[in-house]
Amino acid sequence: MKIAIVGAGSGYMPGVIRGLLHRASDLAGAEIACYDVDAAHLEVMTRLAARMFAARSAAFTVTAHAELKPALDGADYIFTTFRPGGLTARHLDESIPLRHGVVGQETAGPGGFLMALRSVPVLLEVAALAGDAWIVNYTNPTNIVTDAVARYTGARVIGLCDQHVGDTEMWAELLGLPFERLEADWIGLNHATWAERVRLDGVELDLPALLEDLQIPGGGATPWRDPTRMAELAKVLGFLPNSYAKYYFFHDEVVAELRAKGTTRAEDILAMLPAYYDQVTAESVKDDPDPSRERGGGEHGEFAVDTICALAGDERRRMIVNVRNNGAISSLEDDAIVEVPALVGRAGPVPLTMGALPRPVRGLTQAIHEYERLAADAAVTGDRRTALQALLAHPFVRSKHTAQKILDEGLAAHRDHLPQF
Ligand code: G6P
Repeated sequence: MKIAIVGAGSGYMPGVIRGLLHRASDLAGAEIACYDVDAAHLEVMTRLAARMFAARSAAFTVTAHAELKPALDGADYIFTTFRPGGLTARHLDESIPLRHGVVGQETAGPGGFLMALRSVPVLLEVAALAGDAWIVNYTNPTNIVTDAVARYTGARVIGLCDQHVGDTEMWAELLGLPFERLEADWIGLNHATWAERVRLDGVELDLPALLEDLQIPGGGATPWRDPTRMAELAKVLGFLPNSYAKYYFFHDEVVAELRAKGTTRAEDILAMLPAYYDQVTAESVKDDPDPSRERGGGEHGEFAVDTICALAGDERRRMIVNVRNNGAISSLEDDAIVEVPALVGRAGPVPLTMGALPRPVRGLTQAIHEYERLAADAAVTGDRRTALQALLAHPFVRSKHTAQKILDEGLAAHRDHLPQF
């Protein structure tokens, strides 16, 4: 078996290596073909992978590739996990919308739109070389990228995001329930999912009653968790919102906070990355490396590797993935890419029937879907009018002139990564 990793120089790679080690016996004998545009980071991460595999006697062969085609040739699984243009481009995605009073975020809203314009051309290139391989995509915005590949190419693709793992963990803490015994049916679109059904040891909980009793906590916010706002929101909704709901339901407050903060998330990460890569580089020459867990943590890599194992081993395992709807969510069209529980086996992900979206967020989620579809079309075709329509369709954008300015500035700032425009 050959597993190609596109973006193998990424800071998330130590987590992916740990994920591979976790399933080493299921994947024994596999070639791990690593590709990245950053030669120095690729060298560090491939050395790290080889040493970590050797230290634990994992039967993997690691190969490094500076060219995409040889990396993908003969691959059975292509794991895409890169940020096009890196964190410098992410900084632009986060700051351009903010200048115009709109949340600047890597995946949600116009920031995510600009990222989609850069990601999609690379994924189309990957898809053209993929043959029968499964593309297991983490590259953001995963929903739009997966949609573009699914509708415009013949490649087999499954979209991933582990946000639901962290969110279920946060809700377990808030509700005082044991995370390992909980299962939530997160449904909707990536970074716009909702859970009305949550089970403890397989028994459905009375969520509205639990939420009514929930005390709204103070503080505890991190870049990825905002327990106060989430609790406040869930008490009104009567079901669980995904963490990204804060950008929709607290938009103007978040804009003020992001402006007051002064630095973007990309700048914060860029500031810590040199020390991070120094640590990983130092570990990569040791016999038994233990690289930092500061980027990507555990679930990122494990989730991706588990998905590959579920496909390869025909496990038919229940996983929350991004897949063609096919009626799973009755409030969205059949060929929408949705995030839902699916059974993942050799034939690919089979989405489970989930019914309608909860009414308080149905219109919002449908609007985000229409935006995402137009964004995928614009990212493939390079059509400026479609691009503007996409931005106008997004719930964050309330003025045509704002949409036009963000588009013009975004296209100019990212021109080196936008061959389609
Ligand atoms: C969450 C999201 C991912 C995103 C990541 C960014 O996990 O679900 O889609 O890529 O955050 O994290 P970072 O630490 O780079 O801001």
